[in-house]
Amino acid sequence: MKTPQQTKPEELQQYDLVGFGSGIFGEKHHESLLELADKLPQINDKKAFIFSTSFVGVDSPVFGKVTGKFHVALREKLQSKGYTVAGEFNCKGFNTNRIYGRFGGMNKGRPNAEDLKNAEEFASKLK
Ligand SMILES: Cc1cc2nc3c(=O)[nH]c(=O)nc-3n(C[C@H](O)[C@H](O)[C@H](O)COP(=O)(O)O)c2cc1C
Repeated sequence: MKTPQQTKPEELQQYDLVGFGSGIFGEKHHESLLELADKLPQINDKKAFIFSTSFVGVDSPVFGKVTGKFHVALREKLQSKGYTVAGEFNCKGFNTNRIYGRFGGMNKGRPNAEDLKNAEEFASKLK
């Protein structure tokens, strides 16, 4: 696992499957990850997966399919660089944004054991 700051865009070409993920900020992945995606060289025949944590969960009645909406920016950048997106995963994450932080945060304890089990299942399906 590496942060975008530790990653040279060219080095990712050697891997057949690369995962890209972060918390969601303003309905997108973290800007450092989106910037890395912009710098990736054009590749051929490689796969990627996308993951995120956010304060609303995947099937929120208000926001609809969260992975669909929140992953759009990153997904489109990766696809434009030639990646096939093999799978996407989202779960709730602890949020101290805005007013929530003053009341002990939202989604305390998330990701929890069940989220991690779901992430493990997602990873083994990818394999
Ligand atoms: C500035 C800011 C903006 C955020 N925007 C969103 C958002 O648009 N939608 C959402 O569901 N969660 C949003 N969140 C919640 C984060 O996605 C969530 O807490 C995530 O788990 C943070 O990941 P991290 O702990 O790895 O930074 C936001 C949090 C912050 C601090």
